[in-house]
Amino acid sequence: MGKESITITNNATGASEEFPLLHPTHGPSVADIRTLYSKMGIFTYDPGFKSTASCKSKITFIDGEKGILLYRGYGIEELAEKSNYLEVCYLLLHGELPAKEEYDKFAGIITRHSMVHEGFKSFLAGFRRDAHPMAIMVGMVGALSAFYHDSLEIHNPKHQEISAHRLIAKITTIAAAAYKYSIGQPINYPDNKLGYAENFLHMMFSVPAEKYEVDPLHAKALDLILILHADHEQNASTSTVRLAGSSEANPFAAASAGVGALWGPAHGGANEAVLTMLEEIGDVKNIPKFIDKAKNKDDSFRLMGFGHRVYKNYDPRAKLIKKMSRDIIEKTDGNDPLLEIALRLEEIAMKDDYFVERKLFPNVDFYSGITYKAIRIPVNMFTVVFTMGRMVGWMAQWAEMIQDPKRVIGRPRQLYDGAATRSYIPMDKR
Ligand code: CMC
Repeated sequence: MGKESITITNNATGASEEFPLLHPTHGPSVADIRTLYSKMGIFTYDPGFKSTASCKSKITFIDGEKGILLYRGYGIEELAEKSNYLEVCYLLLHGELPAKEEYDKFAGIITRHSMVHEGFKSFLAGFRRDAHPMAIMVGMVGALSAFYHDSLEIHNPKHQEISAHRLIAKITTIAAAAYKYSIGQPINYPDNKLGYAENFLHMMFSVPAEKYEVDPLHAKALDLILILHADHEQNASTSTVRLAGSSEANPFAAASAGVGALWGPAHGGANEAVLTMLEEIGDVKNIPKFIDKAKNKDDSFRLMGFGHRVYKNYDPRAKLIKKMSRDIIEKTDGNDPLLEIALRLEEIAMKDDYFVERKLFPNVDFYSGITYKAIRIPVNMFTVVFTMGRMVGWMAQWAEMIQDPKRVIGRPRQLYDGAATRSYIPMDKR
């Protein structure tokens, strides 16, 4: 196979085999070891997938060393400046930017699918009022498959499309309903005159007793946040959606698995954890104490919003959100003590050898919470907003997976190091 291959030699047996080396558009070469077990009878061991490409994809690319993020080849900075969330959704789903008529048609479809079945209200009423909105989201997204079972033929391209549209359109309505339910206010219907981000803010904050005007600055900030969260290649929740979907589970069920994976504080739950941490720090003078805690290996505390599996440079999304958080705070309240703590925390950490050596930079979640706070999104809704933005990425990745003619069910192997074969011992003899 020459240059385009790697050779694996088993030093114990002397057996040696060549495997093709694949060259992606960007990023390191990939050793194709799919036949490793059949040829050599061995598995690879890579918990956390630190060196494993789990799929081929044309959707998103990250260069973690350089801090680059591309959606379908377009830089995140350019999309953040020039595009809007629905256009980015179209791009992720279809692979190309839409022409004007394509955009209008797509935006119209998403707008007209935003209402949810009235039966959802009684479903929602079964949850405790004090339930975390993410707990409600896991249930409600999965339950869509019970309400919209007319589009569950996963190999039917029309059904694939309509399910994706329904999820993207209805996720904001479900998210706002989860919030309204938790505070005991009536649930708002979407308003088709409003844009995607505006509509969510309307459903979150309108009350029957008072007219509510969506602040265009808030809508713009939210739209940017949604763009920045729209996809991030094979992260934990996206890989969960792909894996769940690989069993041919319907997209609503797969998306619900994704919501569960996103909820964790090491992933999408970090935005909520950052704000809690900043509030706990409380004052710039307490920062060194928290930095010491984060560095202490006997303490499980980590600086939330810092570090990333892929980025070993500044997360480009964090740069954009940092700027947005400053702009919006300047244009609204004028200051937020938490922003001051965050800026100082970043400054101190970025000069500390522990963070420098490990290449731990602020990630997307470090400044997003401050921005959410500035646009009045309650803390327990932060991860819900991340879910709304990521839904399109999950759907684009799910479609790519299900449309792949070479798709197989995701089924990792393991390195078993449990007990060897044993004989059952009756209870009175143990
Ligand atoms: N604070 C202190 N130390 C850290 C941190 C942190 N936030 N992150 C990593 N480290 C240390 C870690 O202890 C380890 O040190 P050592 O080499 O001495 O054992 C080293 O840095 C490498 O860390 P790791 O845990 O092996 O890295 P990972 O790629 O497995 O984890 C991460 C990535 C994001 C889970 C982790 O950095 C983390 O827990 N960060 C805080 C949570 C967070 O902000 N998550 C949001 C991620 S971005 C949004 C998203 O994708 O959802």
